[in-house]
Amino acid sequence: MKSWFISCILVTEWLLPTSGEDCPSPPPVNNSILVGTCMEGNFLGTYICITGYHLVGKKELLYNNTSLEWDSPAPICRLGHCPIPVLVNGQMNSSNLEHFSDGDVVTFECDTDYILKGSNWSQCQEDHTWIPPLPICRTGQCTPPRKPENGHFKTKGFNSGTNVTFYCDDGYQLIGPQSLQCMDGEWSHESPICEKMEAKKEESCVFQENNICETVQKWIQYQKASGQTLEELKYSLEIKKLQLEKIKFS
Ligand SMILES: *[C@@H]1O[C@H](CO)[C@@H](O)[C@H](O)[C@H]1NC(C)=O
Ligand SMILES: *[C@@H]1O[C@H](CO)[C@@H](O)[C@H](O)[C@H]1NC(C)=O
Ligand SMILES: *[C@@H]1O[C@H](CO)[C@@H](O)[C@H](O)[C@H]1NC(C)=O
Ligand SMILES: *[C@@H]1O[C@H](CO)[C@@H](O)[C@H](O)[C@H]1NC(C)=O
Ligand SMILES: *[C@@H]1O[C@H](CO)[C@@H](O)[C@H](O)[C@H]1NC(C)=O
Repeated sequence: MKSWFISCILVTEWLLPTSGEDCPSPPPVNNSILVGTCMEGNFLGTYICITGYHLVGKKELLYNNTSLEWDSPAPICRLGHCPIPVLVNGQMNSSNLEHFSDGDVVTFECDTDYILKGSNWSQCQEDHTWIPPLPICRTGQCTPPRKPENGHFKTKGFNSGTNVTFYCDDGYQLIGPQSLQCMDGEWSHESPICEKMEAKKEESCVFQENNICETVQKWIQYQKASGQTLEELKYSLEIKKLQLEKIKFS
């Protein structure tokens, strides 16, 4: 059975059907209908497969009057309403596994050690698509997690359910979770990072002048010893600072 039609329309100010002499003939596609528009030597067409066939390839085809070629190879119309689903590492079940008609349902099951991602069934739709979208079978194993810089991890493996534990080198601290669990091929969290620990800062002095600095430090120690809260300490420090500066500038 071979049936294809072209309707070429020249667009001027109105849409008018013409003979379409300005455009080359689009490549014929068996079992399809082509609806197209010809405009100043540019052709834009859409192939539609007849009932019982589904389209494989790009349904739209464009001819450019500058490049003088078709922008893509012509599609084909294959028997069956929907494309045949593909499930790597799994099995499909349906009343007919060669031709899928509108409304046909197919179920999916993955081989052992593989995990189904997506729906375990799908239905062929009027528009030749599968809904819900076709699933895939994925291995339940995780790929090794990212090793943190200045750290390492320990684990008994990467199968689903196993944990990895992270450790940082000396002088580095862990930011993030210490353990991740592999869950059906995906880690429960992002890998943590190892951050350089801040060297414990000496009580540094904020003033430029050394004598003021010393005075303030002594004074801070004295105030601390007297059991003041940090807030009180800050407050009295401000006062002390003002006093010292007054001495300095007078
Ligand atoms: C289209 O159909 C004809 C006749 O059935 C066949 O000879 C030809 O090879 C087909 N073309 C394609 C691209 O399948
Ligand atoms: C090609 O198409 C453009 C518009 O896309 C038009 O302006 C131009 O005149 C056309 N050239 C020829 C040779 O038809
Ligand atoms: C045709 O092709 C030329 C160059 O490849 C491009 O500049 C132009 O926009 C195209 N015209 C259309 C209508 O796509
Ligand atoms: C599909 O999954 C549902 C649960 O999500 C389950 O109840 C049903 O039995 C499964 N169907 C098949 C064919 O595996
Ligand atoms: C992995 O970690 C999870 C949560 O932190 C815990 O519930 C589980 O028992 C651990 N599994 C193993 C094998 O240690």
